[in-house]
Amino acid sequence: MQHDTASNQLPPTRDDRDASTSRLDAHTHAMTTRRNLLRWTIRVSYGAFALAFAIPALALRTLTQQTREVAAGDVLVYAAGEREGTPLNVEQIPAGSAVQAFPQDKTEDSNNLIEIVRLSEDASSVVAYSAICTHLGCSVLPNLGEDGLIFCPCHASAFDPADNAAVRGGPAGRPLPSLPIEVGTDGAIVARGGFSGEVGPD
Ligand code: FES
Repeated sequence: MQHDTASNQLPPTRDDRDASTSRLDAHTHAMTTRRNLLRWTIRVSYGAFALAFAIPALALRTLTQQTREVAAGDVLVYAAGEREGTPLNVEQIPAGSAVQAFPQDKTEDSNNLIEIVRLSEDASSVVAYSAICTHLGCSVLPNLGEDGLIFCPCHASAFDPADNAAVRGGPAGRPLPSLPIEVGTDGAIVARGGFSGEVGPD
């Protein structure tokens, strides 16, 4: 009996040790895989949670912006000064000068800022452009330069109001978008639509 007991306590062979190491490796691999799977599950859950809030918020923001852009029928009002918020009247704009305006009740969006220029004594010579520079998005000056051009103070781009706001100098790559307008019999200036192109830089 003593002999049997001694044989049961023989030290493990090399094969026994290899088998044990393989089992340990397999166990470790399975644990790592499970941990990675858990991590990814948590990340995907967080992502889905965030998207569930982000998508409706984005949709609402887009909808709000769409409904607040200048549009046909908007009465234009002074953007600043003692007449701020009151409707423009073409008779109050001297020939060869400019004023800045917003569509009434849409003043919270700076992209709605409009440069109104009266080119001559003729009341029908009033033109309107976006007042947001197409270079990097600064506001152009409310007054025309001595050369009759619309000027951006940030990097000195200049636009010709008598020629569809064509670029006459500076780094801007395209004209200011134009805004179709009409002058009512009472002298009020009203938008006939939205801007002709994208406002601000591309
Ligand atoms: S933002 Fe107007 S010239 Fe640069």
